[in-house]
Amino acid sequence: MTVVDDIKSQIDLVDIVSQTVKLRKAGKNYSGFCPFHSNTRTPAFVVFPETQTWRCFGQCNTGGDVFGYVMKRENWDFGETLKYLADKAGVTLPSYQPANEKAEEVKKTIAQLLQDAADYYRQQMIDTKQGQEALAYLRKRGLNDETIKIWGLGYAPAGWNELTNAMKRRGYTDALLVEAGLATERDDGGIYDRFRHRLMFPIRDTYGKMAGFGGRVLDPNDVPKYINSPKTELFDKGRLLYGLDLARQAIRAEEQAVIVEGYMDVIGLYQAGFKNAISPMGTALTEDQFRLLKKFSRNLVLALDPDAAGEKATLKGLETARKTMDQDTELTYDARGLLRMESRLSADIRVTTLPDGRDPDEIALADPEAWREILTQAKPVVMHVMEMAARDQDLNDAKVKREIAAQIVPLIEDVADPVEREAYRQALARMLKIDERALMGAAPPTRKARSKPAREMTVPSQERIATPAQRNRLLERVVLQALARDPEALFKLNRALVKLGIPSLNEKDFVESDFVIAFQIIQTALQQDEVATIDFVKENLPEDLELNAAEEPEFNDVRPISEAKRLEELIRNVLRIRRNLVEHRINEIVYLQSAEMEEKLYSDEEAQFLLLEQLNQRRLIDVALRLPDAGGNGKAFTTNKGTTRVKK
Ligand code: CTP
Ligand code: MN
Repeated sequence: MTVVDDIKSQIDLVDIVSQTVKLRKAGKNYSGFCPFHSNTRTPAFVVFPETQTWRCFGQCNTGGDVFGYVMKRENWDFGETLKYLADKAGVTLPSYQPANEKAEEVKKTIAQLLQDAADYYRQQMIDTKQGQEALAYLRKRGLNDETIKIWGLGYAPAGWNELTNAMKRRGYTDALLVEAGLATERDDGGIYDRFRHRLMFPIRDTYGKMAGFGGRVLDPNDVPKYINSPKTELFDKGRLLYGLDLARQAIRAEEQAVIVEGYMDVIGLYQAGFKNAISPMGTALTEDQFRLLKKFSRNLVLALDPDAAGEKATLKGLETARKTMDQDTELTYDARGLLRMESRLSADIRVTTLPDGRDPDEIALADPEAWREILTQAKPVVMHVMEMAARDQDLNDAKVKREIAAQIVPLIEDVADPVEREAYRQALARMLKIDERALMGAAPPTRKARSKPAREMTVPSQERIATPAQRNRLLERVVLQALARDPEALFKLNRALVKLGIPSLNEKDFVESDFVIAFQIIQTALQQDEVATIDFVKENLPEDLELNAAEEPEFNDVRPISEAKRLEELIRNVLRIRRNLVEHRINEIVYLQSAEMEEKLYSDEEAQFLLLEQLNQRRLIDVALRLPDAGGNGKAFTTNKGTTRVKK
């Protein structure tokens, strides 16, 4: 569920329109006078509750969803409309604070204060006697001065008011220091430094703006080992990834992000030449963080230490995963959570295990080749879990076999892609040396009931996508996701459509306002030639359009499929959208000519003509959709150097 889905499920277009338009029920639908053009004779404005859409059949001849309606009525942009409707629906917008200039100003000041603090800590490390201990420690860990500078590492002196006094001299107030998470309030009203005698790691947002700090002990007797900034306006550790500002380019270039566990790992890897590593900050990766990463690459490798890999990611993980699954907040490194993430984000998540007791920074700084080798060992989540489960087990013992199968089979069933699923089944059968068919009965009988909530969240199934409107939104999203990923596919798609006698994809095909905007951006991207198309799309697609939301395996076999297959999926999904539109249009025409309408909109001849036109389109679409190969083996729409063969 994305925010827009959420809002739409809470709001009825009929209510929204009724705020200003007097609607009259006519059959399943409502009609009234169009609020967008002056007319008091024909009630040519119709609201369709079933699809949650509206259309003016008069002068405007436009229509859309609730967002489009409010945008047009209030003359707002999508963002403003989103805020308004979210408020109405009682849905909180995660990244959307009400535009408040004063709050923005405060944030800017805090970011500046944090930057000044980072400079101060660095200067303390370089220029003071105390600071030498921190510097020596970093060097002992193998970091050179260049690396230390790039990452802005520093030293927080041991006193209680060192930083606070230095910052107050620069004019920052107590309140601001507390708000920035740099100082803590005393009971008597004064403040004291939050970080004392610690190695300081500045934490920045994706674009390099200061957000907070992590502070590591220098004295091994001090606890805790790390202190991070508290949650502030700028620091939310569930939404930031350490190192992303410096890693994002490499992540894009290498089409892979490596997720490690700590600050030192990220920095050590960077120095060793592996600049695509990032880490969360002491917690498991959240969905927000996965989404953030996915903007740069969908190939994610988790480098887990053996404890995490062996326990969290496998056996115990499965149990806790079941318990936490419903909460939908923090995702853990457990197998189910990862698979679910993989499917929701159509990412490729792999896991690699580190040798006992050694951290990535240590390995990579000592021997870059060894680290490279560890990365090549990364395996899909299911394969990883399978190996972990089998480790140190007697695989000839029938009871062990059963036990392992009982754990792994449910996981395999959570995999969205059928081909992948089958491959895992075979791998498991091979590993356990049993017949593949025997695996089918291996899942514990209670599984169905128990895992239902998880499944519902992973693979929104036919039942969950209850209304036609929701199903259509899903289709539109899948199409736009495909186009956003590969804008050039639009040309191939359109060539294929035209060959089928069906008009090219255009913005009128999208009912959903946010997707109309996205489609326009993709078109603009293709028309401009200043930057690479895909970069233009990435830079211009507003985040609130939620194209990163779950891709639906039901419509789109996302993972390892060929380009031809992808195109075929795209064409099929566009045809489905078209099919819905045509169907809707036919209903509209019939409805508009029906007795329910006081005044007929078209003459009988006009209606006849329009109807025939639509019926003809429907026939063409059905033919295309029903082509024997449209079922999935990729031949029906195969394009070959731009030519489309519609079945020999
Ligand atoms: N962490 C934290 N709070 C703690 C312990 C750890 O926030 N009390 C986070 C830090 O982001 C840390 C990461 O978890 O970088 C991994 O912890 P750990 O493996 O203990 O530290 P390392 O990063 O490996 O640090 P070092 O190599 O210096 O021991
Ligand atoms: Mn470490």
